[in-house]
Amino acid sequence: SKGTYPYYMLKEIDEQPAVMRRIVDAYLPADGSVTVSADLLTALDQADRLYIVAAGTSYHAGLVGSYLFEQVAGLPTEVHLASEFGYHMPLLSAHPFFLLLSQSGETADSREVLVNVKKQGYPVLTMTNTAGSTLSREADYTMLLHAGPEIAVASTKAYTAQIAVQAVLAKALGLHRNLTAAKALNLRHELSLAAAGMQTLMDEKDQIKNLVGQYFPNQAHAFYIGRGEDYPLSLEAALKLKEVSYVHTEGFAAGELKHGTIALIEEDTPVLAFITDDATAAHTRSNLQETEARGAHTMTIVSEHLAQPTDNIVLPDVAPLLSALVGIVPAQLIAYYAALGKGLDVDKPRNLAKSVTVE
Ligand code: F6R
Repeated sequence: SKGTYPYYMLKEIDEQPAVMRRIVDAYLPADGSVTVSADLLTALDQADRLYIVAAGTSYHAGLVGSYLFEQVAGLPTEVHLASEFGYHMPLLSAHPFFLLLSQSGETADSREVLVNVKKQGYPVLTMTNTAGSTLSREADYTMLLHAGPEIAVASTKAYTAQIAVQAVLAKALGLHRNLTAAKALNLRHELSLAAAGMQTLMDEKDQIKNLVGQYFPNQAHAFYIGRGEDYPLSLEAALKLKEVSYVHTEGFAAGELKHGTIALIEEDTPVLAFITDDATAAHTRSNLQETEARGAHTMTIVSEHLAQPTDNIVLPDVAPLLSALVGIVPAQLIAYYAALGKGLDVDKPRNLAKSVTVE
């Protein structure tokens, strides 16, 4: 039940710190080890390339996960849309391993991929929120998200759970391979930090509600921009805003705007920038200024250690590879309040179903 919450979406955004703690309890004992099946690790260790396949928000979580698998576990990783991969399979590596990400475990496009790759004899892991779902039953291995039931059509806690559980697997494989990057990532601690950071942002939700009133009084279009891992984060932030508030929103690689799309910026178009990465912070800021010079109403969402006094939303610092865990929270709230402000049914956006069981 929604309890005291007006909508499931707000309840589920609010549950994210607890979900992070459940994932810690399920996978990360205090002795620094990781609870992942030995068979799964052995199979994954033999792979020369990981293929993450998913749809929608789960695809965006996979994009974040690819950085974790490459940097923490040294495993080359590609991320694909299930609806494309089912019919246009790329040339695969010699020893591929498949990771299907699906909150529901019932998405038809993802199932089609699973059936195809199983037919070819490749190993498949499903990460899903739903034990006993079709994708879980048909895969070789399952890791559960432990997010609890997600009722609102717009996915929130399953996204952050997917990132955290991918981090668990990347850490486990990195440890199995004795990699320094994996030993250096104290994931138990980092996920607890992320949980606390999420809570801090939830406690500031009235401030975000005010910003929505200022930036989205009546906007038809908006942009989220970011570089590096802030780019996939921008894609997910944009999906949230467009699907629940119907504000047409694009997520964009910050440096790519000026190669064409900046033509769309008009007086007062909201452009929201994620800045969590030291290496590209200055570049993203200058890309944002380029839009401001063309009339954009700019907003910055910035990690604490990079924040300046004029920034709009400050994200508590977490490990750089996990910045999307906290970065997405204000974007989920922005989507929620933008939809609420328009009097929309936040939990049931038009034209959408919770799980898409047709191809
Ligand atoms: C967006 C959303 C969808 C799903 C997508 C995949 O908020 O919920 O984009 O992420 O339909 O669904 P699952 O993860 O169940 O395969």
